[in-house]
Amino acid sequence: MPRQLLVTSALPYANGHIHLGHLVEYLQTDMWVRFQKLRGNRCIYVCADDTHGTAIMIRARQEGRSEVEVIADMQAAHERDFADFGIAFDNYGSTNSEENRTLCHAIWKSIRAAGLVTEREIEQLYDPEAKTFLADRFVKGTCPKCNSPNQYGDNCDKCGSTYSPTELINPQSTLSGAAPVMKKAVHEFIVLEKLRPFLTEWSQNSGALQPEIANYLAGHFLGDALRDWDVSRPAPYFGFEIPDSPGNYWYVWFDAPIGYMASTQQWCDRNGSQLNDWWKNTNCEVHHFIGKDITYFHTLFWPGMLKTAGYSLPTKVHIHGFLTVDGEKMSKSKGTFVMARTYLNHLDPSYLRYYYATKLTSGVGDLDLSLEEFTNKFNSDIVGKVVNLASRSAKFVEQTGLAKTYPDDGGLFANAAAAGAEIADAYEACDFSRAMRTIMALADAANPFVEENKPWELKKDPAQAERLQQVCTIALNLFRQLAIYLAPVLPKLAEQTGELLNDPIQNWDQSQTPLLGTKVNKFKHMTTRVEPEKLTAMIEESKVEAPAATPTWDDSPEPFAAEPLAPECTIDDFTKVDLRVARVVEAKAVPEANKLVQLTLSLGGEHRRNVFAGIKAAYKPEDLVGRLVICVANLAPRKMKFGLSEGMVVASGPGGAEVYVLSPDEGAKPGQRVH
Ligand code: MSP
Ligand code: ZN
Repeated sequence: MPRQLLVTSALPYANGHIHLGHLVEYLQTDMWVRFQKLRGNRCIYVCADDTHGTAIMIRARQEGRSEVEVIADMQAAHERDFADFGIAFDNYGSTNSEENRTLCHAIWKSIRAAGLVTEREIEQLYDPEAKTFLADRFVKGTCPKCNSPNQYGDNCDKCGSTYSPTELINPQSTLSGAAPVMKKAVHEFIVLEKLRPFLTEWSQNSGALQPEIANYLAGHFLGDALRDWDVSRPAPYFGFEIPDSPGNYWYVWFDAPIGYMASTQQWCDRNGSQLNDWWKNTNCEVHHFIGKDITYFHTLFWPGMLKTAGYSLPTKVHIHGFLTVDGEKMSKSKGTFVMARTYLNHLDPSYLRYYYATKLTSGVGDLDLSLEEFTNKFNSDIVGKVVNLASRSAKFVEQTGLAKTYPDDGGLFANAAAAGAEIADAYEACDFSRAMRTIMALADAANPFVEENKPWELKKDPAQAERLQQVCTIALNLFRQLAIYLAPVLPKLAEQTGELLNDPIQNWDQSQTPLLGTKVNKFKHMTTRVEPEKLTAMIEESKVEAPAATPTWDDSPEPFAAEPLAPECTIDDFTKVDLRVARVVEAKAVPEANKLVQLTLSLGGEHRRNVFAGIKAAYKPEDLVGRLVICVANLAPRKMKFGLSEGMVVASGPGGAEVYVLSPDEGAKPGQRVH
């Protein structure tokens, strides 16, 4: 009986392009799905763009476009990238779809009805200028533990401590630069604790999770009361408004996984199927492929939501690790943070498909892309051992086709057919690395046959025509068997093989019987070697200039030239001038004078000075109030038309609108002398 499977990859965020890290997952899933389809199972692969949340809203504001425009462009780019890597979704939707909205409403209703929702007022940072609440990463300030400036709202990358954004010293919104204020709003919470017995049972005993994941959940979350999950965000928020909580929107992680179902719904509508056939059917398996960073959402929140709403629970959550390049995190400055499109500009997607397949296991460990190994693996395995079998034999049977009976090959074909079960087990278990090793061992066994029987020699002797056809029939069948086993990983090679031998590859079982008597088409080049220069060019194109360590300035010589240097003075001359830090406590324009502002300066305590400053064209009086300036405090008072001026505020610039009042650095106090 064929199995029925629904398979998903995590929905990529609509705020960035696909990169080689993402592709670990989409290629892994695509290979697994292709394997299932090749086995004759009824399987669909659905995905979608994850579109909601603050990041998209901010990006849209910055670009002066609507969110809908921004996400449409990104979705088109994602779909192009995936298609060009041969990732074949049965449906690719969007979380910002009507199907998703409808499902969110229904699931929310069930969660409410189950008594799992509670409301609470919480206080959150709010940007009064951008008029929006701020997630932790939109707040920056000085670390409260080590005083490093410019740290994010949740943790410090200098000392590693974590804190809440309210603890930051001098917090600033990264959106507007404004100082965030605390503001209260009502949020909706899901009381996960009520689901803890179910989640414990499911995560520990259902077999849906890899053992290391089940242990991690038991050790980190399920041992203590689960915290309520805050699933709403107050307006403005790009998302779906919560019907029974007006002004509040579902937090992006509430509607994102429901996007799996919404995408299934779209597929069903196009194919005359029903959502419940996939999501409420004990005969249908549900498989999620995700990265380890989003474990919590898929192993606690999501099963909790599904359970409450009466849908199928995931049969399996396949969790993979993160991509490193040459043993390090992908880096923009080193050129190893490679976008899918940049890769495609230089290299064939088959290389990456095969390379990842050799690296992927069923574990959650990280996966390393070694640039040197990337070059060698494909060349030695696929070009040197697999395609090689066809390129050295196909052209000799273009006229005759394959033999009608399968000649004695010393057991090579039968042996490789028997290995099919083990290869299938490895694919099924997502141990693609093991599948590739087994396949390459078969290739290693096949190659000596061609080397020993030398079709190119047989060709020279007309008396050996029959033997030549036999040898080539064997070589091409051994090749085809490998191409079938590799079809989930290298679909293009499988297609080319089908064309070459006039028999499309459509089913795993085709690996079990030799192909006989078919016409052989003219051999066309099947693949090219990985060229290291192209790899280098890709890395070069990916290099993003690190911000220059020492900025360069290009200051004009004119301001200096405009005012000749004053005659030399001594330190004693200088100290005759008593410069003091002062705070402007009052400032008003002098109506009768077109240049003057009247300032009241405080030198601390009761010391006040009345000063007339010629800065009216450059400063609005109200902008000066409160700021610190430097004042010549011992200047002889001067009687002016409007009153007595008791000092002077120092400033640079030629005058008029170009006047720049000097201020001390933060921390200076009124009354301090300037030395
Ligand atoms: N939008 C969420 C998923 C919502 S699912 C209901 C998200 N998006 S993502 O674009 O950041 O990541 C998509 C998938 O790619 C995730 O499973 C993530 O783990 C995976 N990867 C992103 N970067 C990766 C690497 N560098 N390496 C391996 N996988 C990576 O998370
Ligand atoms: Zn710190």
